[in-house]
Amino acid sequence: FAAGPSTKERSFIAIKPDGVHRGMISNIISRFEQKGYKLVGIKVIVPGMDLAKAHYAEHEGKPFFNKLTSFLTSGPVVAMVWEGKEVIKYGRTMIGATNPLASAPGTIRGDFCVDMGRNMIHGSDGPESAQREIALWFQPSEIAEYESATQSWVY
Ligand code: TYD
Ligand code: MG
Repeated sequence: FAAGPSTKERSFIAIKPDGVHRGMISNIISRFEQKGYKLVGIKVIVPGMDLAKAHYAEHEGKPFFNKLTSFLTSGPVVAMVWEGKEVIKYGRTMIGATNPLASAPGTIRGDFCVDMGRNMIHGSDGPESAQREIALWFQPSEIAEYESATQSWVY
């Protein structure tokens, strides 16, 4: 198999404040790295309310929206862009279900979380949201274009 265009797929993955406070940054990065995905963007920020609301715009008006955006703005978020074959869909598989108690063991939420409002990690749910979220959190210049320095099939 060869590195084709699909290996360039990108997803926006964010460790929410509960994950950072619990010391889960390296654990989460390790999982994506060991899977074979490539980190092309990363920064730590405490997002403002405008960014939090824009990020979760699809949930505006829902009963959990205010709690959700207050929580996201309450502390550090590790915003990342990961690249690789089917990283959007498989990233969601690695993350697990929205409700951690419905999330299989072996997934990030299944292994480490209990509460829906403290589920530690965000991942884009499709190509459109990935594109929108990456553009919302990152400048183009903050994303690194690079090829693996090893074999072409290690990406
Ligand atoms: P959603 O986009 O549905 O889930 P996911 O993060 O798996 O894409 O919802 C965004 C976040 O909102 C979710 O991670 C946790 C929170 N949330 C609640 O607190 N209560 C709820 O009933 C739902 C659906 C989500
Ligand atoms: Mg979502």
